[in-house]
Amino acid sequence: MKNKAFYTIASLVFAIILLSNCDEKKCAAQPKYTMAVDSELTLLMRDMYTYYDSIKVDISNGTLAKDIQIFQEVHKAVATSPEKSSSELYQAMATIYVQSAERINSPNVNQKMAFNLMVDNCINCHKQMCPGPMVRIKKLYLE
Ligand code: HEC
Repeated sequence: MKNKAFYTIASLVFAIILLSNCDEKKCAAQPKYTMAVDSELTLLMRDMYTYYDSIKVDISNGTLAKDIQIFQEVHKAVATSPEKSSSELYQAMATIYVQSAERINSPNVNQKMAFNLMVDNCINCHKQMCPGPMVRIKKLYLE
C-alpha cells in the first residue's frame, strides 16, 4: 500500500515537471542550463511574424501598395540546433516558403489567397520542425 502511494506521488511529480517544461513558444531543443541566447533563426522568425502580422489588415482590405518583403535569410539563419536549419528537409521547405511569399507580389494574383497559402507553408515547416509556435502562426490566416 505504501509503495502504491509512493508511485502515485512520484508519477504526479514527474507529470508536473513535464508540463512545466512545456514552453509554448519555443522548440524542444533549448539548452537548459546555459544562458539561453536567442538564435539567429529565432530572431528572424520573430521579425517575420511581426511583419506579416502588420501587413495582414492591408492585404485583407486590398490597400497594400508596396512590395511585400520576402525573408530570403531563412536559408542562412542558424537555428538553436544548427543541424536543424542545415537539414535538407528544412532547406526544401524554406524554398517553398520563399516561392509562396514571392507569389504574393505577382501581378493579377489574389493577394489574400496567396497570403494564406504562404501561411500554409509556415505551418508545414513548423509541423515538421517546431510545432510550438503553430497556434500563434495560425492567427495570421485571413478570413
Ligand atoms: C523552413 C522551415 C520554417 C519555415 C518556412 C518557417 N519557420 Fe518559423 N521556425 C522554424 C524553426 C526551425 C524555428 C525555431 C528556431 C530555432 O530553434 O532557432 C522557428 C521559430 C519560429 C517562431 C518562434 C520564435 C520564438 O520567439 O521563439 C515563430 C513565431 C515563427 N517561427 C513564425 C514563423 C512564420 C510566421 C513563418 C512564415 C511566414 C515561419 N515561421 C516559417 C522553421 C520555419
